[in-house]
Amino acid sequence: MKGIILAGGEGSRLYPLTLSISKQLLPVYDKPMIYYPLSVLMLGGIKDILIISDKDNIKNFRNLFKNGSMFGIKIQYKIQPKPEGIAQALVLGKNFIKNDPVCLILGDNIFYGSDLVKNLKLAISNSNKYASLFAYQVSNPSSYGVVKYNSKNIPIKIIEKPKKHIGNYAITGIYFYPKGVADIAKKIKKSKRGEFEITSINNYYLKTKKIKIIKLSRGFAWLDTGTHENLNEASSFIYTIEKRQGLKIACLEEIALNNNFININKLIKNIKKIKGNSSYIQYLKKIINNVV
Ligand code: DAU
Repeated sequence: MKGIILAGGEGSRLYPLTLSISKQLLPVYDKPMIYYPLSVLMLGGIKDILIISDKDNIKNFRNLFKNGSMFGIKIQYKIQPKPEGIAQALVLGKNFIKNDPVCLILGDNIFYGSDLVKNLKLAISNSNKYASLFAYQVSNPSSYGVVKYNSKNIPIKIIEKPKKHIGNYAITGIYFYPKGVADIAKKIKKSKRGEFEITSINNYYLKTKKIKIIKLSRGFAWLDTGTHENLNEASSFIYTIEKRQGLKIACLEEIALNNNFININKLIKNIKKIKGNSSYIQYLKKIINNVV
């Protein structure tokens, strides 16, 4: 399975933080925001990844991750000329996806919880035939794509930012599709608000009964980073869990090591190249000392 991280957009709700830097490079406590969605793809075992961002920011992502070899993965980059909708990522990624299934994740989505890997593996195993979405109960559904269920609890439609209340299950920003999704994405039309909506693609799979909607449990955390308040809350959440457990969330080197994408010698070599002694570096050193 291929992975795409969409990390463009205007980030206008975070003005002036996003005047000169992409939203997905802003810190969420101790690491750039994009570390979190990249960690999700890596936890799912996905090693072939495309990062899509705007022309001004793409070089910043390239500086951050290079070709991904430090994590034993392959990262490529693609420019989105204009932010015309999430579904556009699948068209821009057509040559990258080729004839494979693909997982698209938004660069500002943070997932944390014990069933994450189980759910990722489930969605990936469905992907020879079905698209999979993760749904999560929220108190503010009108800000998201929302699933409408019928009286038998069968999903019948997804509505983008519904004005009327149709339910509390939001579709999160991670989408798994079987091969061929780029051709479907090419055919959809812009919505009234002028975007190629990911919801149009999801409704195509729903209508053709080729979709599984996996509900994330109430013990799970799907965090928003859209406003100053949300960003602060996400940072506090990560800080609190990391401090309590002494473990880091979304430590890419640790995931790479646990998934055998890199071995301990490669990690030691990588760390030697890093300057400074931040808590992140101290954590990496602790990992090495425990393993060696
Ligand atoms: O977070 C989940 C929600 O994401 C879903 O429930 C909605 O169905 C989906 O439409 C989307 O809603 P948002 O209102 O959060 O989408 P937004 O326009 O804020 O874009 C999400 C991220 O994708 C954001 O970090 C910017 C980036 N993006 C967005 C667009 C439209 C791009 O990189 N390029 C784009 O063209």
